[in-house]
Amino acid sequence: MISQKQLRFVVKPIVFVACLLPAALIVTDTFGLTGSLGANPIEEILDRFGILGIQFILIALAVTPLRQLTGWTQLARFRRMLGLFAFFYVFMHFLTWLVLDRGLAWQDILEDIVKRPFITIGMIALVLLIAMAATSFNRLRQRMGRRWQKLHCSVYAVGVLGVWHYWWQVKADALEPAIYASILTALLGYRVYKRRKRRNPREAVLATQ
Ligand code: HEM
Repeated sequence: MISQKQLRFVVKPIVFVACLLPAALIVTDTFGLTGSLGANPIEEILDRFGILGIQFILIALAVTPLRQLTGWTQLARFRRMLGLFAFFYVFMHFLTWLVLDRGLAWQDILEDIVKRPFITIGMIALVLLIAMAATSFNRLRQRMGRRWQKLHCSVYAVGVLGVWHYWWQVKADALEPAIYASILTALLGYRVYKRRKRRNPREAVLATQ
């Protein structure tokens, strides 16, 4: 077991820096320091931030099952940080689209949001993520009580919308979104199973026999 001090001053900063590394790599690749962004740099940046967004959503969703399966309770201390990184990467993905891809052309932007369903879905997911990030502080959590729990349960909806958004715009090979969809299904399935077990412990035991 890691001490509270080690967790706060060693492990958490290491995890924080590790989570920031993919963003740093996008920046250094943009300036040709570590690699390149290829023939279509804007699309590459957009896609990389999008993929990181979905990955961090799934990582944040995996914290509770991992904590319960391994018994390592300290994992819960990383959930907020990982959730905020999911928000950060999705927001960077959105900003890339807004500024670099659409060039802040508001008429086109509104049309895209209304007329392209995969973008509408992405926007709904982003709004939910913004609400969760804005209420992620302890003081607000205490003040909101059960409403906080309900709002933060929407992370599952964000996962579903994110994968759906990804799948919808894939042109040829759907293997990658299918992998993310399978991981999400497993995480959601685990949560449903746990909930049923809590409501009816006997039924859940019989289901595993
Ligand atoms: C939870 C929210 C979101 C997630 C997880 C997400 C994730 C993704 C992923 C994984 C991709 C595909 C990357 C690839 O092809 O390698 C993508 C593409 C894209 N996303 Fe999102 N996204 C989200 C929200 C948004 C929002 C809010 C917008 C804009 C309003 C947006 C606009 C786009 C666009 C324009 C593409 C590229 C489509 C293309 O290549 O033709 N996304 N997104």
